[in-house]
Amino acid sequence: MFVPEGVVTNERMSRLMDTSDEWIRQRTGIAERRYARAGTSSCDLGIEAARRALEDAGLEAGEIDLIVFATMTPAHYFPGNGGLLAAALGLHETPALDIRMQCAGFLSGLQVCDAFLRSGTYRRVLLVGGECHASLYPWSEAEWAVMFGEAEGPVSPAAYAWGTAQRDRAVIFGDGAGAFVLEAHDVDDGRGFLGFEMRTDGTHWDKLYVPGGGSASFPYFSPEQFEDNRTVPVVEGRQVFRLATTAMPAIVRETLEKHGESLESLSLLLMHQANLRINESVQKTLGLSDEKVFNNIQKYGNTTAATLPLVFHEAKQAGRVKAGDLICFTALGAGLHWGAGLLRA
Ligand code: UT7
Repeated sequence: MFVPEGVVTNERMSRLMDTSDEWIRQRTGIAERRYARAGTSSCDLGIEAARRALEDAGLEAGEIDLIVFATMTPAHYFPGNGGLLAAALGLHETPALDIRMQCAGFLSGLQVCDAFLRSGTYRRVLLVGGECHASLYPWSEAEWAVMFGEAEGPVSPAAYAWGTAQRDRAVIFGDGAGAFVLEAHDVDDGRGFLGFEMRTDGTHWDKLYVPGGGSASFPYFSPEQFEDNRTVPVVEGRQVFRLATTAMPAIVRETLEKHGESLESLSLLLMHQANLRINESVQKTLGLSDEKVFNNIQKYGNTTAATLPLVFHEAKQAGRVKAGDLICFTALGAGLHWGAGLLRA
């Protein structure tokens, strides 16, 4: 995993908008998040995570057969981050695939990679999830200096008013990237991914989306879109919260059942980190003890396509992933896409 060094506490957020450490902790469980500095894209974060994953796997970039990059904040509208990442790793022919499934992007990437490995199409795949939400904010250098604790403020009334108008969304996101190297293995020892259940219900597309910028608007971009704030994500927070707390437990049960497993045989549930309260509710619904759950949203906020590799990496570092463990990944995000995947570690 790789997260930018800029830590933004809740107290710092409260200088940019009408919010408080108490509100953010109570409603989301988040204590701080990382933000990238201007000039660092989601791809740059992904490159660092990819390098670390390759090093951890003891592989050179040239030994990778396919790159898959999941993000909802690509460095450019097109081309996607996959090719940029490949080039940064010195690869000139390795195919690269881009996934844009927001918070479910990494989970979907795992399923795609697993299928490629199973079919024998590729033997080694590098999957990256990375986001730079900081780029969605309109703040100037002076305002970012307040965010990063380098200036005391106060910020301009206009910046504060903008922050306050978006405060429900502004406080939940954070930047970071994570990467997995997935490799086919010839011996069937029961280890690896057992399978995935993925779902999409596009009727909920407008619960979480960006209204402006896209071919639904002619022109694709216009000054008016920026003036009307239509380039900022719309989140119907309560509805997404309700959908997440019902759909995730249901798909976890279904996936376990499909593979002849149960909540009892499950070692660890790793959930998308959108809101600690969502994850606590899912844990309660499934009746899982604290030993079977691991969260790290407290330190990073919602890093969208990066949450699963970040939480997996830190669970592993904390000694919570042992050989033979049954691990379930689950996520839900804009689309609406959700699902679960089972891994025998
Ligand atoms: O990754 C998948 C995508 N995202 C999600 O899954 C997000 C899911 N939803 C959530 O996590 C929560 O709905 C939010 C954290 C986004 C919002 O929390 P909420 O408890 O649903 O708050 P709300 O938007 O319903 O607002 C409740 C009150 C409002 O005040 P009034 O109208 O009751 O006076 C808001 O203005 O809280 C106020 N509020 C805030 N106050 C202080 C909303 N955001 C803030 C804030 N600080 N940051």
